[in-house]
Amino acid sequence: MAKYLVTGAAGFIGSSLVRALLDRGDEVRGIDNFSTGRRENLTEVLDRIDFREVSILDLDATRQACEGVDFVLHQAALPSVPKSVLDPLSSNRVNVDGTVNVLVAARDAKVKRVVYAASSSAYGDTPTLPKHEAMSPDPISPYAVAKLASEYYMTSFYRCYGLETVCLRYFNIFGPRQDPTSPYSGVLAKFSMQMLRGEQPTIFGDGETSRDFTYIDNAVSANLLACSAPAAECAGRVFNCATGRRVTLNETFEALKKLIGYTGTVKYGPERAGDVKHSLADISRAQKHLGYKTLVNFEEGLRRTVEWYKSEAVAATRS
Ligand code: UD1
Repeated sequence: MAKYLVTGAAGFIGSSLVRALLDRGDEVRGIDNFSTGRRENLTEVLDRIDFREVSILDLDATRQACEGVDFVLHQAALPSVPKSVLDPLSSNRVNVDGTVNVLVAARDAKVKRVVYAASSSAYGDTPTLPKHEAMSPDPISPYAVAKLASEYYMTSFYRCYGLETVCLRYFNIFGPRQDPTSPYSGVLAKFSMQMLRGEQPTIFGDGETSRDFTYIDNAVSANLLACSAPAAECAGRVFNCATGRRVTLNETFEALKKLIGYTGTVKYGPERAGDVKHSLADISRAQKHLGYKTLVNFEEGLRRTVEWYKSEAVAATRS
């Protein structure tokens, strides 16, 4: 039984990791400052973990959180490309300074390995598809720059201090507990909730924008594999975390329409500043070195996600 620290434990991805670790019988500590995470995401597991309301910008508290820990799964971040375009300072503070704090704390506490929630946005709009890790990054938004800078810090801590680090470049992770209520919410969470409420969603652009939408179980599995893979296979390295298939926003809307039974139409609006047009991953490096594979495909993931938002909507009408 190993001891894990999940940063951003009350977030969508963090809270899914917490559950998976508890299911395996691991010991879990979680930190979150609730800037975007929600206490409700941890409701039924809160009494089974050592949860601390801590910001990764608080170095002393982050140091204490790293004490006695084997693995850190660093998920805490200020997500959203458009939010970073509006407020690059906050994005940099949390997504870069916060990461350096986590690394310093993990290094000094002699943590075995840090796995980092990196982002596919690092690739930018380079024309080559699929994106593979050997390609030069070309970040567009401040969010993408911050996430890439943190990747470099991860690798630097491996090279300079021998702290084992693994970066997982997440490709548009979606699934239960992703917050659908913010204007900055991920598109699948937002559209699911809007369409379930009978509201009209808006596609930014012509709808031919495509993403390698990746169901949460795949990201959870990638994190667990990144902790157990031998250091020679993964330490100091970057891996795509995706499915290797892309779907357009128009196709996504049609798929949701069927699953939800939505009878309305979609609106089209201007493209969002900082957006990448197409995103598709080559997942062969993760397959080879981590033993990663896609566990749940897009269609099944979308079905499970819609079921979850439906049950949440029913629960909300009861309370
Ligand atoms: C980006 C990263 C992703 C990261 C996320 C964190 C890329 C390719 N992906 O996601 O890995 O996890 O940031 O925030 O850079 N859209 C609409 N209507 C809406 C909302 C969004 O059409 O109401 C469109 C967006 O303009 C975009 C697409 O849907 O083209 C996906 O947007 P979103 O879900 O916000 O994620 P990315 O910005 O692609």
